[in-house]
Order: sequence, then structure tokens, then C-alpha cells
Amino acid sequence: MVACWEGRILGVGPRDVVEATLEARGHPLSRFVRLDADGGVVTPGLVDPHTHLLFAGSRERELVLRQQGASYLDILAAGGGILSTVAATRAADDEALAEHGRRWLDEMLGHGVTTIEAKSGYGLDLATELRLLDVAHQLGREGPIDVVPTFLGAHAVPPEFRSRPDGTEAYVRSVIEDQLPGVAAQGRARSCDVFCEEGVFSADQSRRILRAAAAYGMAIRLHADELAPSGGAELAAELGALSADHLHAPSDEGLAAMAAAASGPTPTVATLLPATTWFLMADSAPARRFINAGVPVALGTDFNPGTSPTPNLPLVMTVACLEMKLSPAEALAAVTINAAYAAGVGGEAGSLEPGKLADVVIWGATDVHQLPYWVGADLVDVVVKRGRVVHRRGA
Ligand code: NIG
Ligand code: FE
Repeated sequence: MVACWEGRILGVGPRDVVEATLEARGHPLSRFVRLDADGGVVTPGLVDPHTHLLFAGSRERELVLRQQGASYLDILAAGGGILSTVAATRAADDEALAEHGRRWLDEMLGHGVTTIEAKSGYGLDLATELRLLDVAHQLGREGPIDVVPTFLGAHAVPPEFRSRPDGTEAYVRSVIEDQLPGVAAQGRARSCDVFCEEGVFSADQSRRILRAAAAYGMAIRLHADELAPSGGAELAAELGALSADHLHAPSDEGLAAMAAAASGPTPTVATLLPATTWFLMADSAPARRFINAGVPVALGTDFNPGTSPTPNLPLVMTVACLEMKLSPAEALAAVTINAAYAAGVGGEAGSLEPGKLADVVIWGATDVHQLPYWVGADLVDVVVKRGRVVHRRGA
């Protein structure tokens, strides 16, 4: 039994024990509304620690290009990929972005998700980045899903800098000198992310951006070693990042650095994104090596229009079980408690513990092993957010 009061969890455990404790602590049972799980599995609300929620346009033609052999970075270099989404996003007004955000948040809610991290990064100029961060923040205020905004100005080098001979370096300076001060003054972004990857932003450039962000009090996360070993895992450990994400191709040194950080005061979560490698038709990240090295592993959708167009976190659990051989229990921990720490909300969400937010999912399943087993199925019966029923099957 889970007892909730004013949006927070009061007690968890066998019904007789919880009820007796409630009465003893001055919470008469008559003041509670009862919600019967009817034999269904009850879990914490899921946390998606890596999404690119807000963008405009769509990129389905890239799937065919990739089937014909083009790589992700080939498409980006030719002005497609992230850059085509940037053009569409700059042209979209705030209301269109918010409408898009609501539509996908609603889908996520139906998959049992009650908190997400949401990156900017399809503006790549101060004005549009600020708009994306503000819309993300407003959507979180609207609820019911909590939205934790991240600034990702260093997602790609925008077209107006690409024509310059020193374009990448000039853009890095602009992120540090023009964008970060504005983002910090706006106060919406809780953390800063960089696409640290050979051919995008180097580890040195990423370090400069992330140190500047840390000086403004922002937490740090990275797109690290998504395509090739690029020093991202090493950098995440060095800077005490909340999370290093993707990690398809970490170096041995990077893995060792994250393992060392895992036993220190600032562990960096390895946030793995198996839907992305699946959708890019690539091998998945070495999840078992991280787990064996004691590194906490989270799973996210990486919801975005190019490399992971899925809002379905339970489906990501399935892909993680199939492609990375995570056990169903490991996959559940990776989308709840570990994901909450990766998103920077480990003290508030991700587990059913007294004092935490009353974010609870009742599943149409009788055993947690069924959650990733029924591939792509809709198993969510009821979602409770901050103590209120916010989604019911068929309602
Ligand atoms: O996490 N790798 C960089 N960013 C996204 C993809 C963004 C896009 O292709 O639009 C990712 O996979
Ligand atoms: Fe991403």
C-alpha cells in the first residue's frame, strides 16, 4: 500500500502496517480516498532523463538515406539532420512549439512517465534557445508532467557560423559569451549539455562550455561518445557531470574514469539510449560493462525528430532487455531511481519513499517482468502525479 497526502508519499508497505502508522500519526483513514490497484503492479512514475522535447518539422526522409548507406554525420554535414530541424524550429512561434510539446507530453504520460528532462538545442541562437527553455518551463508548470529544462546551445554549429573558416571555434565562443549569460539570467535551465563528439564539439571545447555553465551554477551533462570515442566519458567524470549520455563508444579510460567517479562523492550516471542505436541501425552501448564497473545506468528515450522518434519509455526498456541484455529489474531501476538522479531530481522522484512526490503508476500487469515483455503494448492502467489521478486507461 502507498499512502499519499498533499502530493507526497506518507507511507509505503504492507497495508496493516501503513494503516496503523497513519492512524498513530494523526491521519485518520477516513480522510483518504482509496484507489485499488486490483492486483496490478505498482511502480514509481517513470522518469525520462533525456529528451529533445521541443522542435518543429519532421525528418522521415533521413531513414531512407540511412538505409541507402548515409551516416548520421554525413546527413548533418550536408545541412540536413539537426540543421533542418533548427530551420523549422526558428520559424515556429511559441504557441506552435507549446502545442507540439503538449501532444508529446500527453503520449509520454500514457506510457507512465511523470517527469522528464527536456533539452533546448534546436534554436542555436540566444533568442530561440531562450524561447525553447521558456516553453519547456511553462509546460512543466501546466503539468501534470514535471519538465526539467536543459540548455543545449552546443548541439551543432548553426549555418551562420558554418560558412566561416573558424566556424566551430567562433560558435563555441558565442555559446560561452553570448548565450550562457542570457540563459543564466533567464534562470529556466537547470543544467547545460554539449554534443561532445569528434566532428561536432571536441572534448576541449565541451570542457570550456561546461565549466562556464558550472560557474553560473548549472549542473552538467553531456552527449558523450555517441558515435566514436571522443573523450566524453572522461570529461563527464572529470567535471562531476550528473550524467553522461549515449556512451555507445566509450574508451577504456573513459569507462575507468566513470567507474572511479561512481565510488566517489559525485557519481556520474551512464544514461543509455538504446532506441537511438536501434533506430540508427547500430550496435548498442556496452551496458553490462558499466553495470559491472559499478556505474549507475539509466535509460532514456532521447525523444527527437532524427535519431529516436519515440516517446515510449517502456518500449525503451524492451529494447534495453533485447539489445543490451538488461534484466527487467535493471531496466525498471534505470527508468525510475537512476533516471531521477540523472535528471537531477533524485531527492524528489524515482522511488516510492516517504517524503518523495506521490508519482505512481498502476500497470495492467501482475509481475514487473511483464513490463518490458509485451513489446510496444499499452500496459498503463492509471497514472498518479503529485497525488492526483492524471491518466486512466480508456478515459
Ligand atoms: O541525442 N546526438 C545529438 N543529438 C540527438 C539527435 C538530434 C537530432 O538528430 O535531431 C541525439 O541523438
Ligand atoms: Fe540526445
